[in-house]
Amino acid sequence: MRIIIAKDYKEMGKKAANIIASQMILKPESVIGFATGETPLGMYKELVDLYKAGSLDTSKITTFNLDEYYRLSHDNPQSYAYYMHENLFKHIHIELSRTHLPYGMCEDIEEECTHYEEKIKNAGGIDLQVLGIGRNGHIGFNEPDVKFEARTHMVELDQDTIEANARFFPSMEDVPKQAISMGIKTIMGARKILLMASGAEKARAIYDAIYGKITPELPASILQLHPDVTMVLEKEAASLLTIVQGKQTREFAV
Ligand code: GLP
Repeated sequence: MRIIIAKDYKEMGKKAANIIASQMILKPESVIGFATGETPLGMYKELVDLYKAGSLDTSKITTFNLDEYYRLSHDNPQSYAYYMHENLFKHIHIELSRTHLPYGMCEDIEEECTHYEEKIKNAGGIDLQVLGIGRNGHIGFNEPDVKFEARTHMVELDQDTIEANARFFPSMEDVPKQAISMGIKTIMGARKILLMASGAEKARAIYDAIYGKITPELPASILQLHPDVTMVLEKEAASLLTIVQGKQTREFAV
């Protein structure tokens, strides 16, 4: 596992964008797994800047998002589809038919999940999966006590996650309680993983994900078993790690 510590949120976004850009440069037809939330917003802005500066060809990539709220249509401003369109897709040259998110308005959940997995498989699998992390250590919407064997599936959101997401909705009642998420097995199938985290409220989850025991109670801990994980951490999110290291290291491997 490679840990890169950034001095602030902006630097975290830049470093993560550079890693994604390198992937696209080395393999223009890369399959990229994208994440949503506040953490990657700066990274998307940096990617758009790289594209506008003419340094990035995004025309051949295929994308799969980690998750989507259940029963939010793609044109709902709180949906992750809307987020991706606003923060990335509408700013770059990309074939929209090659961008994918689970469809929260589907009629048959089972069929939607199976179909999503098939599409990932048919695209050749995910080359680089971007992840954020929940305060409770969730990745995608794989909440504590997740089954490590699960692929894309319907999830019931934890109270902690519902509360954390409430900031994006007019009231608590409007926050979706269910979502469709890639499973841990889907995420672990990606050839490379890039996890980003920012803010002191993520420090404990990051510490446990790296040094804690591998347990479904902390879904991100499974990443210890993945052969190619890079974490780009804003220094507050890494604050417990530097104490463990005993010095202010900027980059290290565990
Ligand atoms: C949501 C998303 C996750 C994201 C997490 C953290 O639950 N499903 O993919 O990593 O929130 O979000 P934020 O970056 O806003 O802290």
